[in-house]
Amino acid sequence: MFSEAEIQKTRETIGKSILEIETPALLVDLDILNENIDKMNMFVTQHGVGIRPHAKTHKTPEIARLQMERGALGITCAKVGEAEALAEGGITDILIANQVIGTGKIDRVVALSKKIDVKVAVDSAGNLKDISRRSALVGGNVGIVVEVEVGNNRSGVRSIEEVVELARLTANLPGVSFRGIMGYEGHCVFVKSLEDRTGQANKAYDVLLSARDAVMRAGLAPEIVSTGGTGTYLLAGRRQGITDIQAGSYIFMDTRYKDIEGVDFKQSLAVLSTIVSHPEKDLYVCDAGLKSMTGEFGLVGILPSYGLRVLSMSEEHIRLGPGDAMAEVPPGWADLDNKYAKRAGGPLGVGDKILLIPSHCCTTVNLHEVMYAVKDGLVQDVWRITGRGRFA
Ligand SMILES: Cc1ncc(COP(=O)(O)O)c(C=O)c1O
Repeated sequence: MFSEAEIQKTRETIGKSILEIETPALLVDLDILNENIDKMNMFVTQHGVGIRPHAKTHKTPEIARLQMERGALGITCAKVGEAEALAEGGITDILIANQVIGTGKIDRVVALSKKIDVKVAVDSAGNLKDISRRSALVGGNVGIVVEVEVGNNRSGVRSIEEVVELARLTANLPGVSFRGIMGYEGHCVFVKSLEDRTGQANKAYDVLLSARDAVMRAGLAPEIVSTGGTGTYLLAGRRQGITDIQAGSYIFMDTRYKDIEGVDFKQSLAVLSTIVSHPEKDLYVCDAGLKSMTGEFGLVGILPSYGLRVLSMSEEHIRLGPGDAMAEVPPGWADLDNKYAKRAGGPLGVGDKILLIPSHCCTTVNLHEVMYAVKDGLVQDVWRITGRGRFA
């Protein structure tokens, strides 16, 4: 973790050019970020649905607050630690879209429930009873959202009868309140063709909405019916009965969305890196690597107008070679490319700074202590990623 002095040092760049930042460093372009947030909020408003954006993507209270100011109902988190970081940062409505198991973590959620409106996903009676028992002991009130498996083959109850059982049990237990149900169609979000994705996602929503209907027939009112990611928000948002979307990556995007039809948010996140070696005509080496940019979704990208391409990544190096001058700029990357790479001008050499595009924004953010919020090439603010590493 950065010391206060190190944080202070990063803040000395405020008002200066991004070229003053020590690299590798995570940057977000504020105009593009705000455009993405506005676009999502316009979509949800037009379709009469809400959004609880997933904060696993940014783990940063300043961004969660921007989302709340633009109309989000609340924030979704993956872990108790993330929820605590965001609650410390002023967020008062949080859905932990994951099972919280074990007394220590349950007690932390109960403590949160005394300060904010917190909800957790549950898929077993044993876990539900544990939460109820610990919460009732201290007068807490933890919101319960029953997780339904909709085809992703991860957590979630496997039958509609079980959803109804858990919802009924919640309504009869102390220290907990039944708030609704959630699914996550993660198996659909990266299906390239919009038509295929629509067919598969609608099957998932059929399951979720049948569960909702069954719960309602049992006399309970699910206030929350939550699902959806960046690849499916436009499908989930159109299905009557879904109340809120949990998409996260739409604010930043990453190389994995390049070929996903119909998902038209813009690239706002990049890693600034310095070329540290140019030992041969066709080889450049920069100072980012797997310790500042993750690689599980493949090689990272580079803005096309630099005329380079990524050859390989190792821990603290990325090798770059000549790029295809005719390569098209993916539509979502055009703004970053115009603002930063086109203006770079001239052949690149040692000491020059370049912007790389993460292949997976969520895990890349988790590697960094701070994010530089940038506008027109100048640092406007430095945000602490207070949820980073808080995966317990
Ligand atoms: C439970 C849950 N909800 C929503 C999402 C959607 O996130 P994204 O918009 O980044 O695809 C995810 C992604 O992993 C998830 O696990």
